Amino acid sequence: MVIGGSSSENLANSVANQLSLTLGKAEIKRFPDGEKYLRVLNEVKDEHVVVIQSMHHTPDDFLFEYLLLVDTLKDLGAKKVTSFIPYFAYARQDERFKPGEALSFKTVSKLIEAVGTDEIYTIDMHQHRVLSSSDVFRIPSHNLSAMPLLANYVRKEGKLRDPLVIGPDSEAEQWAKLASETLGTDYDVFEKKRLAADKVEVRPRRANAKGRDILIVDDIISTGGTIIEASRILLSQGAKHIEVACTHPILATDALNRIRAAGVLNVIGTDTVPGPISYVSVAPLIAEHIKKTVS
Ligand code: R5P
Repeated sequence: MVIGGSSSENLANSVANQLSLTLGKAEIKRFPDGEKYLRVLNEVKDEHVVVIQSMHHTPDDFLFEYLLLVDTLKDLGAKKVTSFIPYFAYARQDERFKPGEALSFKTVSKLIEAVGTDEIYTIDMHQHRVLSSSDVFRIPSHNLSAMPLLANYVRKEGKLRDPLVIGPDSEAEQWAKLASETLGTDYDVFEKKRLAADKVEVRPRRANAKGRDILIVDDIISTGGTIIEASRILLSQGAKHIEVACTHPILATDALNRIRAAGVLNVIGTDTVPGPISYVSVAPLIAEHIKKTVS
């Protein structure tokens, strides 16, 4: 059985359809005082339940809903809960950058385990300093990538010819590599080069952008600042056309308009964060891995 929390109802619906599995239902509403109410409407005793719940835009709400849902499923006798958290919030706060800061990534992971999650899947989780999800979770954990799906979409629908794939920082190399493999082209990442004490140049590490079509790839677009700066540099170096693909299009405030105004032809995202550019669904990726866990 597949159950989606309220952040991922459509995604859960598609996954259940693709695998001909029962789509479970939970009634979720608020009491007048603002507290959440959740009721599982299916018989789940001895069932293996797959929970899908992203944590975008109102992460605290969706996290708490997740905790209520999984705790209830286990309490009602579910045999196993396998969770897919397509966008995993709080992963960027994986370190105490200033003394006294909360290690939010660790706290959220502990809560997810505490309610009885048996196995967890994330998609392109922000892992910059924490290199593997098993460094954070004690339960079996897997971090999948949506980059091959995004790159396939770009190949079929995009307007680029033989694009150079660019990651806007060294952490994005993993995604640039994956996308370029799917597209059969070359990739590079940006690096900072210090020219003088007060002068830093940001440019692709080895590739020449002049005259090339470019696909910039990243895990998250939040304010759009990273993409806008990368596009500005690439265009100033003579890049022809730029498209952008990202897994989690958070698109805070007017990020999309600002990216388009910076000269980007097309911005493509997935439905880990449903929104105006969620052209690519991660449902097939989730379905493929559910098949593996139950086979
Ligand atoms: C940073 O390390 C991430 O991979 C993204 O590049 C970043 O979160 C994007 O944020 P923004 O859109 O606000 O620049």
